[in-house]
Amino acid sequence: MTVADAYPWLKAAHVACALLFVGGIVAGGLLLAGGRAMADQGAPLATVLRRWDRVVTTPAMLGVWAFGIGLASAGGWLTSGWLQAKLVLVVLLSAIHGLQSGQIRRLAVGMDVKPLRAAALVVPSVIAIAVLAVIKP
Ligand code: HEM
Repeated sequence: MTVADAYPWLKAAHVACALLFVGGIVAGGLLLAGGRAMADQGAPLATVLRRWDRVVTTPAMLGVWAFGIGLASAGGWLTSGWLQAKLVLVVLLSAIHGLQSGQIRRLAVGMDVKPLRAAALVVPSVIAIAVLAVIKP
């Protein structure tokens, strides 16, 4: 199989991982808000959330990066402005995911969890990432 043959499969894997990664961040944010609202009864919810994060969201994030780097190298886009701008936003989403994972751990052991202010950046970042990836301005 040549790189040209493998490319569409790489892209499909990248998009599938991106959907699961972003879905995990959005669902994680909503369930964390629910867990906070339940005060000291949020721990069982956090345990389920923690397992999902470990089995799906974190591997999907690693897949997004690995397949994305593969696509960028194959397409010769590593130095393109659109990709660099996209990477800044993906680093931001990866950092928000890291903060969320910390909050899920704290909620699982019954500790107090404050709302994550950076969560407001998720929706605009995902919209900008989609525009940068598709339009490549
Ligand atoms: C949350 C993170 C990410 C999301 C939501 C995302 C989303 C997408 C989507 C939907 C496409 C398809 C665009 C199209 O078909 O025209 C795409 C393409 C691409 N992505 Fe990502 N991506 C993410 C992270 C990354 C990372 C970390 C890299 C590189 C290190 C990367 C590199 C690329 C490249 C080079 C393409 C172009 C493929 C092509 O047009 O043939 N992406 N991305």
